[in-house]
Parts: sequence; structure tokens; C-alpha cells
Amino acid sequence: MSNKEKVYQITLIPGDGIGPEVTSAARKVLAAAGIVIDWEIMDAGAGALQKYDTTLPEETLESIRKNKVALKGPLTTPIGGGFQSVNVLLRKNLDLYANVRPVSSALGITFQHRPVDMVIFRENTEDLYTGMEYEVAPGVAQSLKVITERASTRIAKAAFEWAMKRERKMVHAVHKANIMKKSDGLFLDSVRKVAKNYPEVTYKEIIVDNCAMQMVMRPEQFDVVVLGNLYGDIISDLAAGLVGGLGVVPGANLGEEIAIFESVHGSAPDIAGKGIANPLATIHSANMMLRHIGENKAADRIRAAMVLFLAERKHLTPDLGGNATTDELVDALIEKIKLLR
Ligand code: NAI
Ligand code: MG
Repeated sequence: MSNKEKVYQITLIPGDGIGPEVTSAARKVLAAAGIVIDWEIMDAGAGALQKYDTTLPEETLESIRKNKVALKGPLTTPIGGGFQSVNVLLRKNLDLYANVRPVSSALGITFQHRPVDMVIFRENTEDLYTGMEYEVAPGVAQSLKVITERASTRIAKAAFEWAMKRERKMVHAVHKANIMKKSDGLFLDSVRKVAKNYPEVTYKEIIVDNCAMQMVMRPEQFDVVVLGNLYGDIISDLAAGLVGGLGVVPGANLGEEIAIFESVHGSAPDIAGKGIANPLATIHSANMMLRHIGENKAADRIRAAMVLFLAERKHLTPDLGGNATTDELVDALIEKIKLLR
């Protein structure tokens, strides 16, 4: 059976806020490129709470474990109090340790005309995101930053493996080991050990605050960047800002066997339901998913259509300076996909 006739079974978590709008846009684009998917639509987050009495139903986890691949829309997390981030729960439960975020000016809109083409490898399971927080005394709170050799080593390996497939073959480890000598020191030591096994890859180290400045001033110097959970979170949004914002940057959460694809952006409650969300980040995430399942031809076609579409600077959503709706953008992109048949 050729790939063309193949029907994939993939889990879909539409998410909340703009999630349903952007995931349905991505589904249309995949279908237009001839990919047939039998979507298993599953609940999570606040929506699941009423029906299942939990934000992460076992059914949803089972579906992902069975299909091994999922596309996910953003899920709202209450700030301050309320339930724990479902995104963090998903990553921990399924051990999706690598958060991979390619950021490229070819698939975005740059404001400063400096080429950006980098891939961020963010450790996804530990650091300050373990949720171990204590009020140690009235007026004094404490968060535990947990760094392990195991997690640091496997994210480093994933980053170096990815770098081997790229033209520049360069990895920057980003840290603050000058201040956090033990935790970031262990991260850095672990990455250095992995780097020794990849002599073909140029290895560099940079302190996180300097990295932020360098990315704004000379983003072209970065290829693959590997960092801990918190730095990765912040640096990815910074990188997104260089290429047109959160509306265009895709992501993948990778484990040994399971992969969940989702944009970097959140549920954008300020624009939810207005039909103006930018679906490109989710479409690009879905395209990473196509490569993951081996549908490289369709992925190449969608990528080429996105480049054509963005070069025209037409039918852009408001976040990119246009006045198109989500549907208008999707229709214009599908036109390009058809042209490239
Ligand atoms: P956000 O990414 O939802 O929004 C930040 C700003 O970017 C807003 O002004 C929003 O309108 C805009 N924006 C984001 N995506 C856009 C798109 N596709 N098109 C056009 N504009 C877009 O971040 P925020 O406001 O910090 O978080 C909102 C909620 O999303 C929170 O509950 C947060 O916990 C959750 N969140 C969920 C994520 C996930 O499910 N992976 C990731 C990040 C945040
Ligand atoms: Mg974030």
C-alpha cells in the first residue's frame, strides 16, 4: 500500500480558547495535502473537568499511548491558584522530555531583516517546573529547581542528534552556571560529556542573559540551542518574537516513543472565538508531525506553500499586521497547496 492510501490514527486534543479554531485549520490543511487521518478526538483541561472530574482523563492518555502521535491545541492554566498545568502533566505522564521548537524567518515575518534559523531544545520534565513549592514561613515562599544528570544528558543527546542532520551542525548550551553552580553546573557538565561524542558538531556555551541579547542583535549565529525548562520557555518566546510572534512558531514534545505536536502559543483568551487566530503555528506543528510519521513529500509541499504564502504578505491575520480571518488565511494557503500539486 502506498502512503497515499494510508489512513493514520492520530489523537487530537482540540484544547480551549483558540485551540479548536487553530486545530481545525490544521486538519483542513493536512486534508488538502492528501493526508488521510482518522482523528481520535479527546478531552483535556478545563473542558474535561466537568465530564471526567479530572483535567487529564485516563482515556486521553490511553489514546495517546496507543496512537503514539497526537496533535494538540493549547490548554488554559489558571494563574496563581487552581489546577496544575495539564501541559506539564501530559509531558510528565508520557515522559515527553524534549520540547523542540524550530524558529525560522523563512516561515515567519521578520521585522529586523536578520535571518533566523534555529531549533530550540528545551528540557521538558524538571527544573523549576516540578511544582515543588512551599511557603516556608509567612511571607517566604520557596521553589525547588531540580536538575538531574539523566534528563540533562538525554536532552543534550536529542539536540546533538538533530544538529547532525543540519547544515551548520552547531549546538549552544545555555545556562547560568556562574550563579547556580550546582544545578546549572550539572546541566552543563552533562551536555559537555555528550558533546565529546559528536566531534562533527561545533559546541559552544553561553550564559542565558547574554544569549537573550545576542538573539536579538545577531540571531543568525545560533543553530541548535539546548537549555533547561525555564530558560527554554522564555528563550522560545523571545525567538518567536524575532519571526513574527507566537502565531507562527511550532513545537513538538518528544519522548522515546510518543510525540505530541503543538504550537508554542497558549489559548489566547483575548481573541478566542473571534475567528482571527493565526493558525500557522499549529499548521507548522502538524507539518512537523507529518515528517515524524514519514510523510515527507506532503510536508515539503505544505512547507513550500507556507513560504509562498508568507512571501506574498497577503491574507495575514491581525497578529501579523493583516486583517484576514483564520478561514481566509487557511483558504489562501490551501490555494497555494493546490498550485504545488
Ligand atoms: P498566549 O500565547 O495565549 O497569548 C499571548 C498573546 O499572543 C496574546 O495577546 C494572544 O492573543 C497572542 N496570540 C497567541 N497565539 C496567537 C495566535 N495563534 N494568533 C494570534 N495571536 C495569538 O499566552 P498567555 O496569554 O500567556 O496564556 C494564555 C493561556 O494559555 C494561559 O492559561 C496559559 O497557561 C495557556 N498556555 C498554554 C500553552 C499550551 O497549552 N501549550 C502554552 C502557553 C500558554
Ligand atoms: Mg511558554
